[in-house]
Amino acid sequence: MKDRVVHLSFDQAVDRILATRPDFHRDYLAMYSSWYGGIVTDPALMMVPIDDHLVHRGDGVFEALKSVEWHIYGLQGHLQRMKNSLAALSLPLPMGWEELTETIVATVRAANEPNAVIRIFVSRGPGGFSVNPYECPASQLYIVVSRFHGPPDSKYEEGTVLKTSRIPIKRDYFARIKSCNYLPNVLMRKEAEDARVDFTVSVDEQGNLGEGPTENVGLVTEDRRFLVPRFERILRGTTVTRVLELAESMVASGHLTEVGEMNITPRQAYEAAELMMFGTTFDVLPVVRYDDHVIGTGRPGPFFRMFLTALREDMRHNSRMLTFVEH
Ligand SMILES: Cc1ncc(COP(=O)(O)O)c(C=O)c1O
Repeated sequence: MKDRVVHLSFDQAVDRILATRPDFHRDYLAMYSSWYGGIVTDPALMMVPIDDHLVHRGDGVFEALKSVEWHIYGLQGHLQRMKNSLAALSLPLPMGWEELTETIVATVRAANEPNAVIRIFVSRGPGGFSVNPYECPASQLYIVVSRFHGPPDSKYEEGTVLKTSRIPIKRDYFARIKSCNYLPNVLMRKEAEDARVDFTVSVDEQGNLGEGPTENVGLVTEDRRFLVPRFERILRGTTVTRVLELAESMVASGHLTEVGEMNITPRQAYEAAELMMFGTTFDVLPVVRYDDHVIGTGRPGPFFRMFLTALREDMRHNSRMLTFVEH
């Protein structure tokens, strides 16, 4: 039988890497790699060594944030969450925090795109193929900037559909770390795609609502209370955290009666005046159906619009925005 698996020379392998141009590479704009010691802009070179424990054990943490019109939004919140995740895994950042910010800015500048998604990964690093993190001499940093594609306008205008997930919810310790060990989240997203809904949401063993695969959920009750599930078995989203802060002024103005965290059952969500999802890429999206229950009027509601407007205003005027290109 003829041997069909060829051995490649070094040059042949490099030629093949450079010749591989799948369509999805079009959106990859820039990558910083501490392993390379610099930034590359050719997507064919945006690679991570297979012996990095990030790849074969999911041993690493990540953050996803975005730039809006040449400003990075919410950097401090994302970096603080990354700091917590790193501490939980005893994973050292391979540089100082100031240098990290400089490196993020340099990578976003290299991407030269006003609206982009910035993904930051800190990995255990290359060093053999066992599960033992002590095999790896040095942690690594990878930053990838890609073109931003938000959801279509119809999702904001007509709303989204939610379904209860059947994927077991993570234990609190793991739920609160944004690690690269995202198999339950992946399966939840797959569940949503297979069921042709926009999101599925986890429910814990006590019957309390958790979160979507990469987004938080919240509701407004008939008596105008803005409630989100307690951040115990879920990741504290930077978006919902900011909306909770911004909503305080809506309590002061009398639009809302209360803002709070509490255990919420799916039944309470079915009966909400408004149900919403919160996440970095889309900000806020209204949910108009959940497990075949129509939510509120079945149309995006006034609080969804208030929250979205408040967030978008925050992106335009917040002094905490980090400008990476002056115009
Ligand atoms: C599990 C999980 N929950 C919630 C969120 C929402 O967080 P943020 O608002 O910071 O995007 C994310 C974000 O990726 C997530 O991965």
